[in-house]
Amino acid sequence: MIKAGLEDVVAGSSSICDVNGKEGILVYQGYNIHDLAQNSNFEEVIYLLWFGKLPNESEYATFCSALQKNRKLNENVINFMKTCPKDANPMDMLRTTVSLLALYDSQAQDSDREANISKAIRVTAQIPTIIAYFNCLRNNKPLLSPKEDGNIASNFLYLLNGVEPDELSVKSMDIALILHADHELNASTFAARVAAATLTDLYSAVVAAIGTLKGPLHGGANQEVIKTLIEIGDINKVDAFIHDVFNNHKKIMGFGHRVYKTEDPRAHHLRIMSKDLGQKLGQSKWYDMSKKIEDSVLKEKGLYPNVDFYSASVYYMLGIPMDLYTPIFAMSRISGWTAHILEQYANNRLIRPRAEYTGAKNLKYAAIKSR
Ligand code: ACO
Repeated sequence: MIKAGLEDVVAGSSSICDVNGKEGILVYQGYNIHDLAQNSNFEEVIYLLWFGKLPNESEYATFCSALQKNRKLNENVINFMKTCPKDANPMDMLRTTVSLLALYDSQAQDSDREANISKAIRVTAQIPTIIAYFNCLRNNKPLLSPKEDGNIASNFLYLLNGVEPDELSVKSMDIALILHADHELNASTFAARVAAATLTDLYSAVVAAIGTLKGPLHGGANQEVIKTLIEIGDINKVDAFIHDVFNNHKKIMGFGHRVYKTEDPRAHHLRIMSKDLGQKLGQSKWYDMSKKIEDSVLKEKGLYPNVDFYSASVYYMLGIPMDLYTPIFAMSRISGWTAHILEQYANNRLIRPRAEYTGAKNLKYAAIKSR
């Protein structure tokens, strides 16, 4: 009997990402996430996920240049964004705008591998521009032209804030992007693979993934975490909050995971970043409150924080608007989604499971007047 939510079901094979939930180990294409978070950068990680190896110097330079040259949005896409409601949900905006990119991509329906890699480069390069432009438009700020140098993290912060970002912010954002890049058959990646397996185009598969990431049980949890921290407001109020949550059987966002039954290795790095940023920026309150919540939830419920818990305070201290946290997750996870879509296309079979039927049987049709 399959457990609800396909728990523990192995639904396919992949060489991209290995999650060991018992031991808390996360590996991208053979490399431990701790090694990558400490020594690599997001651009290298994208290359690794797509091509199965770390790039050499010339491959890296060519790859970064392709990403840098594809950051600009088509004018029609920008004009569309200008007509959108300023109070739109940023994930709705992202999903709709990524869908629109396909209309202006001459290779949108071209299904060979080279074309799909070109599209993956364009969509990965343009998602940060979409998110930053949406934020500028809703705040009546000018839209700066993306730079043709620098990494994704620095360009995104530049477009978002309109000023050159400091080194600490760029480094923190870059590590956060590495940590969120892929996670095996999580809900949004599975959605992308199911779509890709019909041999629909890459954009359609990415749109399915963005819609799936939006949910509060998945990527949407990070913005719920910061709302909770702000609502609690003070470390002395943490205990009362925790008691209220547990006594009323509520869920606390940013805790628990379908696969990890020990510490999520990504939370380890984000916890350190939250602490360091708090100390450097004189805002230790968010880390202190988070740590106290973590200790209580672990003690009382045996639940560990997931990737969304400490990323919330990190993004908050970086000055990022709360409702952009989930879009930023997408800005990173696009690398994993596209890696899985490419892998699915390379060895495809339609994904079409069965359902156990639990409905009525042998009913006889009755004419509408006699019901
Ligand atoms: N707070 C309180 N209790 C929890 C939490 C939580 N965050 N997570 C799990 N539990 C409890 C459940 O109430 C349940 O208890 P019960 O058996 O007494 O009813 C038990 O732990 C199992 O929980 P499920 O929800 O059945 O676990 P599942 O594997 O289906 O869900 C999930 C995993 C969705 C991540 C869940 O832990 C959750 O809702 N967490 C909060 C949302 C969140 O942080 N999502 C981000 C996940 S990471 C990511 O997607 C990037």
